[in-house]
Amino acid sequence: MIDRILDGARVVVCLGPGGVGKTTTAAALSIAGARQGRRVAVLTVDPAARLRDALELPDRAGEFHRVPLPDDVAGTLDAILLDAKGLFDELVRRLSPNRRLAESVLQNPVYRNVAGAFAGSDAYMALEQLLDVVANPAFDLIVVDTPPASHALELFDAPDRILALLNSRALEYLSEPIRILGVATSRFTRGVLSGVLGMLERVTGMTLLRDISALASDFASVAPAFRERAESIHALLRDDTTRYVLMASADPHAARDTVQFAADVSEFGIELDAVVVNRVLRLPTPATESRRPAEAPPAPPARWPATLSRNLVASARELAAVQRAQRAVIEALRSGIASVSSGNADEERREPLWAELPALTPAPTTLEGIDELARGFASAPATARRIRG
Ligand SMILES: Nc1ncnc2c1ncn2[C@@H]1O[C@H](COP(=O)(O)OP(=O)(O)O)[C@@H](O)[C@H]1O
Ligand SMILES: [Mg+2]
Repeated sequence: MIDRILDGARVVVCLGPGGVGKTTTAAALSIAGARQGRRVAVLTVDPAARLRDALELPDRAGEFHRVPLPDDVAGTLDAILLDAKGLFDELVRRLSPNRRLAESVLQNPVYRNVAGAFAGSDAYMALEQLLDVVANPAFDLIVVDTPPASHALELFDAPDRILALLNSRALEYLSEPIRILGVATSRFTRGVLSGVLGMLERVTGMTLLRDISALASDFASVAPAFRERAESIHALLRDDTTRYVLMASADPHAARDTVQFAADVSEFGIELDAVVVNRVLRLPTPATESRRPAEAPPAPPARWPATLSRNLVASARELAAVQRAQRAVIEALRSGIASVSSGNADEERREPLWAELPALTPAPTTLEGIDELARGFASAPATARRIRG
């Protein structure tokens, strides 16, 4: 299964609602890639403390670190912690033609107030960093984890919103506030507008109009570089070698969110390559037990209390009920996601590959645990059929 996702892929993005296992699976996919002999980079966002230790990630965000892998792994794995904070400033510095201009943008009070909200900048900054890593010839596979609460919307919309802003005449207008007033048609509206702005400036102590126009004209010289990068990001997200894995859980409460997520993704013209249902309950069957001949079965207790038998039977029934409920959720997910991904009428669409990963105890937070999950992933039966939209 895993090979079908990784073969021919340059970038693999793990998507999905919070807590479904994106970070864990991104780690598993990257170890699997390294096992294929590839030079892998994993861009991780919010690893749980123990996974972070397992990958031996440094505390500082934005630096690559070589993850020590078992000897039988042919490839390499470098991990980097993504951190969006402060990166927008850094980008402005990098793309500005000179230092003075960069500082003028960065010190602008209007910029200071809007930078955080700039076109969903967290998601955008993650993509900005991705663009750098993709350009780095040291890696031939890049696995990307996505932020905990990020919606498909934020991630795929951010570059387009930046482009829309840069291509609009908003900046041009802002650089000459007098033209904003010029847009107001009647003399009365103009009068009211300039009165209100003047009052705002006096009351807030902000030199609002002057700050906005200074920002807009400074920004005009940074804009072409921004535009070029946003276009590259837009194209990268839709490239054939960029693969999307939607993570899902078999929890009935999360099913609707997951289908909605898939619908949002499809709105942006992005096709899911795989859906992975994580933490699926598997009851131990005699067949799986017999694969471990080394482990001797525990000796039966000398006395077998009646209550123990009753409790075991009750637990087995409960487990079976949970398993049935999970099957029902997985079926609902399949039909829900199939219907959104076949929404586009005239082109032939591929139904994503489907795979299930077992719930592991203990949770896979060590390198061995992640490796085990990766092996389970590799042997997970994948199913897909071609459908006509
Ligand atoms: N297959 C699994 N079996 C057991 N625990 C898992 C499994 N996958 C993930 N977990 C655990 O679930 C929690 C959430 O996983 P994480 O990868 O951080 O999710 P996300 O990045 O989507 O928020 C973590 O504690 C992780 O160790
Ligand atoms: Mg995560």
